[in-house]
Amino acid sequence: MRVAVTGSNGLVGRRLVQQLVSAGHDVLGLSRGERRVQGAFAYAAVDLADGALLAKTLGDFKPDAIVNPGGMTDVDGCERDPIAAYDANVTGVATLAKAARSTGAHLVHVSTDYVFDGDAGPYQVDALPNPRGTYAITKHAGEQTVKALLPAAQWTIARTAVVYGWPSTGKNNFGFWLVSTLAQGKQVPLFQDQWVSTSHATNVAAMLKELAERKLAGLWHTCGAEVMDRVSFGHRVCERFGFDGALIKPSRMADVKLASPRPAKSGLDVTKTTQALDAKPWPVARALDELYRERQENP
Ligand SMILES: NC(=O)c1ccc[n+]([C@@H]2O[C@H](COP(=O)([O-])OP(=O)(O)OC[C@H]3O[C@@H](n4cnc5c(N)ncnc54)[C@H](OP(=O)(O)O)[C@@H]3O)[C@@H](O)[C@H]2O)c1
Repeated sequence: MRVAVTGSNGLVGRRLVQQLVSAGHDVLGLSRGERRVQGAFAYAAVDLADGALLAKTLGDFKPDAIVNPGGMTDVDGCERDPIAAYDANVTGVATLAKAARSTGAHLVHVSTDYVFDGDAGPYQVDALPNPRGTYAITKHAGEQTVKALLPAAQWTIARTAVVYGWPSTGKNNFGFWLVSTLAQGKQVPLFQDQWVSTSHATNVAAMLKELAERKLAGLWHTCGAEVMDRVSFGHRVCERFGFDGALIKPSRMADVKLASPRPAKSGLDVTKTTQALDAKPWPVARALDELYRERQENP
């Protein structure tokens, strides 16, 4: 099938295009600036905010499915520049949904656990969102935009959380930062009062690929299988990589001045995904094995 993937230079997007190409699909990667991922797929530099160019590019490609892991993902950056956040995470999504409507493509839109306030996680797929902060609000507005512009059978919303992989793609990610810092023998401050689902990007991409291939509509949680606090995750990393657990310094969210609020008791329930997809959410041990392998290959 013909699949267009936004954010193809990004952490999830690059793995998704590679997996789609390996499966024999005809792929168009879309991202900003120059192509930073090689492979047997077409590439177009298109800003999600450039509605005319994005619509034309998709109209020319005539995709069967569009997957949207692209967008402004810097949480504090969104707080500082809400217009850029809105342009990428809402206006861009509206253009993708309109293109899906006119071409008949299925749209898989990637969203976040941040649509929930984090007062009472882990969250079921049908829990009521209550986003806090500009990133969260724009991502939630993106979800609503998809629902408003497309028939229910033509959209998928796939929420993920705390995605990591090795190496970094320019922008730091939690797992990369944690392993790189611990490997230098440096202390890492980690929140003991924030519970999250952590996700390996390769696993997230595999779930997105299957959702696109099977055009499975509705709300899905596409993240790792376990919810834990960040200190516990840090200790799991130390055990897997052989780092000194004493380097983990528990801290509290209130100790740090962040531009944007973070959900505290977050985490996404993956029961539906585990039951319905062949690409299952990975437990932490499996995800850390993959991170370890990636680092061995790219020291
Ligand atoms: N990473 C996480 O922890 C996490 C957690 C929950 C949900 N998510 C969601 O998962 C998805 C994938 O995340 P990710 O970690 O793969 O993000 P990422 O590495 O930041 O990738 C996003 C990609 O989108 C591109 N992009 C940003 N603004 C754009 C614009 N205006 N026009 C065109 N392209 C633009 C970026 O381009 P540049 O490379 O030029 O910046 C980047 O290639 C996102 O929708 C995110 O909201 C991520």
